[in-house]
Amino acid sequence: MATDLVTMDKIVSLCKRRGFIFPSSEIYGGIGSSYDYGHYGVLLKNNVKAQWWRSLLQERDDVVALDSAIIQHPRTWEASGHLAGFTDPLVDCRTCKLRFRADKLEDSQCGQRPSKHPGETPECDLTDSREFNLMFETTVGPVKAEGSTVYLRPETAQGIFLNFKHYLQFSRKKPPFGIAQIGKSFRNEITPGNFTFRMREFEQMEMEFFVPPSDAERWFEHWLAERMNWYTKLGIRPDHLRLRAHDADELSHYSSGTSDVEYLFPIGWQELEGIANRGNFDLTQHATFSGQNLEYVDTASGDRYIPHVIEPAAGADRATLAFLVDAYDEDEIDGEARTVLRLHPQLAPVKAAILPLVRKDGQPELAREIEQDLRERIQVEYDAGGAIGRRYRRQDEIGTPWAVTIDHQSLEDRTVTVRDRDSLAQVRVAIGELGDELERRLRLPWRSPKLD
Ligand code: GAP
Repeated sequence: MATDLVTMDKIVSLCKRRGFIFPSSEIYGGIGSSYDYGHYGVLLKNNVKAQWWRSLLQERDDVVALDSAIIQHPRTWEASGHLAGFTDPLVDCRTCKLRFRADKLEDSQCGQRPSKHPGETPECDLTDSREFNLMFETTVGPVKAEGSTVYLRPETAQGIFLNFKHYLQFSRKKPPFGIAQIGKSFRNEITPGNFTFRMREFEQMEMEFFVPPSDAERWFEHWLAERMNWYTKLGIRPDHLRLRAHDADELSHYSSGTSDVEYLFPIGWQELEGIANRGNFDLTQHATFSGQNLEYVDTASGDRYIPHVIEPAAGADRATLAFLVDAYDEDEIDGEARTVLRLHPQLAPVKAAILPLVRKDGQPELAREIEQDLRERIQVEYDAGGAIGRRYRRQDEIGTPWAVTIDHQSLEDRTVTVRDRDSLAQVRVAIGELGDELERRLRLPWRSPKLD
């Protein structure tokens, strides 16, 4: 495996410098572990989400979409087990007034309870660990009375189970089929951190795939392979990706089997996505708590059963971070250092930069004409400010795969040069064919040049 130049600090600094991601509320000193996406960050994360939707809704015919509410009936979380069981063990340091996850601290020498925390002093004194529920509580309505407590969803999955019956009744879906959604989830994480890797407010891309019970294992294997392919097709280097099956003591309360897709971040191998065999736990629980029948009945054969569920659950922010980390590279052009994001062109925030070589002789006018034309088809950016070399560097740093340069010759023969971010090859293309050519390139299979 080639040595990686990337560090989390370099990613954080590039994201701020180039307007991908900013610390939230910075003018007030920031609020820990909240981040805001700037222009290029929005474009990049939107592309990640669009590719996820595409792989499920466009490239297959057995998955449908949903956008459910963030605040659901509070009984949802009783039924799902989150109210009782969605906890992490918490310890406080009485001296430092800091909080830690007990399971992430080193054991004390006597093995009784955690005794060490980062930056501890001889005076440090940890409490016993207690279970801390990660759900954010709030109230509905103007009166803070008993019974008005609701929760911000800690996963998008439950909204899918609550709507399952609608898909049977109105959309006439029959297993095997999936319901997918992307949306915000909230967890009062004890130790958020590592930039957008672990936040208290984040976006999930989750799909619940409902299957006849006897087919669950087969579909579990199917989704493991599909989800690994999704990341590699979008350019993640295969040697930085792996599947790891959970040990029995790691399994969530609902799961009879889970494998994580892990990525080799600069902080080590970490979970990108969990793929779980949830059995019929959730639908059975909601049937019991709501009193509704959530069985599927096959009218032809008379078969009736509560479907089993395979759930690929990914994080949109975490996937975006992995694509950024995987794309980060440094090289040298003509003795000058360059930072470049070697993003898959489909994910790149901007597909082509439109650059008049000089700001005179009709070049900006022609460049604007080309820009307007291309805007109909792809995300482009016009930039006429500064030396051409500096403009190339700026686009390299945000991962723009192609730079279109308009020069003196362009006005004579209506051709432009197209420079490739990775190979640095420059070819002349007729203006009339530029849109088709860029769209053709966008459709080509792509492989990270960092593998070469
Ligand atoms: N419905 C199952 C579920 O929520 P999870 O493993 O807790 O499973 C799925 O979450 C994915 O959501 C994770 O693999 C990760 O990508 C993302 N995720 C979870 N907690 C997160 C956090 N605090 N910050 C950012 N992403 C998070």
